[in-house]
Amino acid sequence: MNYYVKKCLPFVLAVSFFLAGASYALAGAEASGKILLLYYSKTGNTKAACEALGKALNADIREIKDRNSRDSGPGIIGAMLKINLGMQTDTDPEKIDFSPYKNIIVAAPVWASKLGLAMKTFIENNRFDGKDVIIFITADSFIDEKYQEKHRQLVKDSGGTVLGNFQVQATDLVNKEKVPRTKEKIVEEALKFVPQMQKSLAGK
Ligand SMILES: Cc1cc2nc3c(=O)[nH]c(=O)nc-3n(C[C@H](O)[C@H](O)[C@H](O)COP(=O)(O)O)c2cc1C
Repeated sequence: MNYYVKKCLPFVLAVSFFLAGASYALAGAEASGKILLLYYSKTGNTKAACEALGKALNADIREIKDRNSRDSGPGIIGAMLKINLGMQTDTDPEKIDFSPYKNIIVAAPVWASKLGLAMKTFIENNRFDGKDVIIFITADSFIDEKYQEKHRQLVKDSGGTVLGNFQVQATDLVNKEKVPRTKEKIVEEALKFVPQMQKSLAGK
């Protein structure tokens, strides 16, 4: 080994280790295995389920709110009109930087067989390119495949890859009548999906 190589070798090695470490750290900061759970909820069913799911999956949770009140009759009628006419509402937040995440769960109640207006709007206004997405819904009735495919298409149109759909009923049929389930029951049902969600996100 000549003199200059001997002299420079420790420096070259130190720089190489530093660069390798820095690129590893940057790659980690770009998109980790950490899950981002986004939810919209009007009456608290989806929220209760998502708070429990978020804890079980160690996910970061963000609530998507509708800037327009949906607490009264006119607010609901306005939302239903917008959903059926393919219009949007204003959401808070409008956009989220997804770059720290590879895995995203989008959760919403079903409204008129579609995802609740605020979540539908949020998905349409954000890009999910390169993200693996799970869709979680709560609804009074069982939502069949035809509508779930439309939910998936919404995410695909925004660039996401859908890994799975999960749904929890917010009512039970008792003597042919729909009886609302307690939040505890909704949480219990949602938590049954944790192993399946983990498998989907792990690509198994
Ligand atoms: C405006 C509106 C429309 C709804 N449309 C449907 C529907 O089409 N199918 C259904 O099964 N449930 C429907 N529901 C019931 C909700 O999806 C269900 O109660 C859900 O669990 C509510 O979630 P949240 O408490 O997180 O808002 C609707 C509720 C509202 C307020």
